[in-house]
Amino acid sequence: MIAVRALSKNFNTDRGRVEVLKDLNLDISAGERIAVVGASGAGKTTLMHLLGGLDRPSSGSVFFAEKDIFLYSAQELDAFRNRSIGFVFQFHQLLPEFTALENVMMPALISRSSKREAEMMAEEILTAVGLDHRLDHKPGQLSGGEQQRVAMARSLVMSPKLLLADEPTGNLDSGISDEILALLDRLHAERNLTIVVVTHSEKVATRMDRIVHMTDGHLQS
Ligand SMILES: Nc1ncnc2c1ncn2[C@@H]1O[C@H](COP(=O)(O)OP(=O)(O)OP(=O)(O)O)[C@@H](O)[C@H]1O
Ligand SMILES: [Mg+2]
Repeated sequence: MIAVRALSKNFNTDRGRVEVLKDLNLDISAGERIAVVGASGAGKTTLMHLLGGLDRPSSGSVFFAEKDIFLYSAQELDAFRNRSIGFVFQFHQLLPEFTALENVMMPALISRSSKREAEMMAEEILTAVGLDHRLDHKPGQLSGGEQQRVAMARSLVMSPKLLLADEPTGNLDSGISDEILALLDRLHAERNLTIVVVTHSEKVATRMDRIVHMTDGHLQS
């Protein structure tokens, strides 16, 4: 489903060029669950941003169903991302002025669902992550684990084919991690959801089908 080919990413800084991803290749099958592990600064978040089309590579390609996503126009890429990819950021990036329900409705509204429809979709997935009693809370009125679950719900509200999760359980106690892992298991079983998760947790990594190691901008399976 996804093919990463000769993917490189450099950043230019005042102190010169930083080579973060070096000629990466990776194949991901539909329904596969992959854990990306590696030291801080190895390039995991940079890779996730490229897989999700949130940033552009310095060279190389990401093919999604045989289409090079970086050949899309900005508008096409936005639409593709909205339809096909759910993204959970390392820092949850919820909108502070909006309630949990409104945050989760956002991707549906962007895809031009009606308000009523978006509300129903958001309520359903928030219920699935155990937050039906917190719909009207703003992020500041939620615990850290609850905020993470809202971010997870937002990433899943459009029923994406691919979930990219950057340390979704990083700040959570083990009980809440179990709840999110159980939800991911269910979505994988029910919808054949493809998952790429960055994690420092041995427990999360071993629940996936495959672990890839990132070391200094290189990948090893
Ligand atoms: N915009 C940028 N400009 C310059 N350097 C950057 C930029 N973004 C990331 N880097 C550098 O690229 C390297 C990889 O960053 P990245 O965020 O991908 O690491 P990571 O593996 O996700 O680390 P962590 O586990 O701490 O989240 C880091 O050394 C970082 O300083
Ligand atoms: Mg990171």
